[in-house]
Amino acid sequence: MTETAQQLPPTAEELIAFFELDRLAEVPVDSYYDIIAQMITNKTGHWAAFGVGWNRTFQELNRVRNRYTHNNKLFAFDWWEGLPHDWRPGYPKGTFRIPRERVVNWYKHDESVIFHEGLFEDTITDSVVAEIGVPALIHIDCDLYESTKAVLDRCPPAAGTLLLFDEFYAPTGEWDWTQHEAKAFYEFCQSHQLKFRALFRRQVSAGPLSEQVAFLIQEVV
Ligand SMILES: C[S@@+](CC[C@H](N)C(=O)[O-])C[C@H]1O[C@@H](n2cnc3c(N)ncnc32)[C@H](O)[C@@H]1O
Repeated sequence: MTETAQQLPPTAEELIAFFELDRLAEVPVDSYYDIIAQMITNKTGHWAAFGVGWNRTFQELNRVRNRYTHNNKLFAFDWWEGLPHDWRPGYPKGTFRIPRERVVNWYKHDESVIFHEGLFEDTITDSVVAEIGVPALIHIDCDLYESTKAVLDRCPPAAGTLLLFDEFYAPTGEWDWTQHEAKAFYEFCQSHQLKFRALFRRQVSAGPLSEQVAFLIQEVV
């Protein structure tokens, strides 16, 4: 590959082929998180969620963590101010802003949910990453390229981590999914010679929450 070609961003076709997106099994919406949590091999490893927002998928995540794993923590990262930049059409900067109490109070009786409030760039510190250790599961739901890159660079997945993306793929092409979470993960895979197994995606026909894709990390250099 020439130097110029290396610098070009991946096309949709390249990303689909690289991540095997057109070959992935589709898992029904209702069982997606249960299936993922049952696949976790390290039942006591900590979980980390980047993008807590309106506590929708996050609540599901914590439900299955409590059901299928034990003695671990869920580290939760958000600054509550919504998207730091414009994202896809209809989702400008500030979308998903929410008063922190509306979410944090929900978990005030669950000491295993640990919030780190602020921009990822400030809150994903070396000491927090050391506390998380080898993450059993990482959930990335921050939508933007820059935010996803910050997460992967600062809190990288390791062999055995289940890595979930919430807005990875839009098969019908209604927005340019190639510019955000998928692009950041593609670049991370290239720079770390990552070996992974693409597991499945959440059923597309189910509606707007259908762009999630799950990966099992096998090796990181
Ligand atoms: C789609 S929402 C998350 C939805 C959430 N998973 C749920 O269960 O409702 C995206 C979230 O990512 C957060 N976010 C995006 N980039 C961020 C960054 N760099 N630092 C902190 N939070 C960020 C936003 O504040 C927003 O709450």
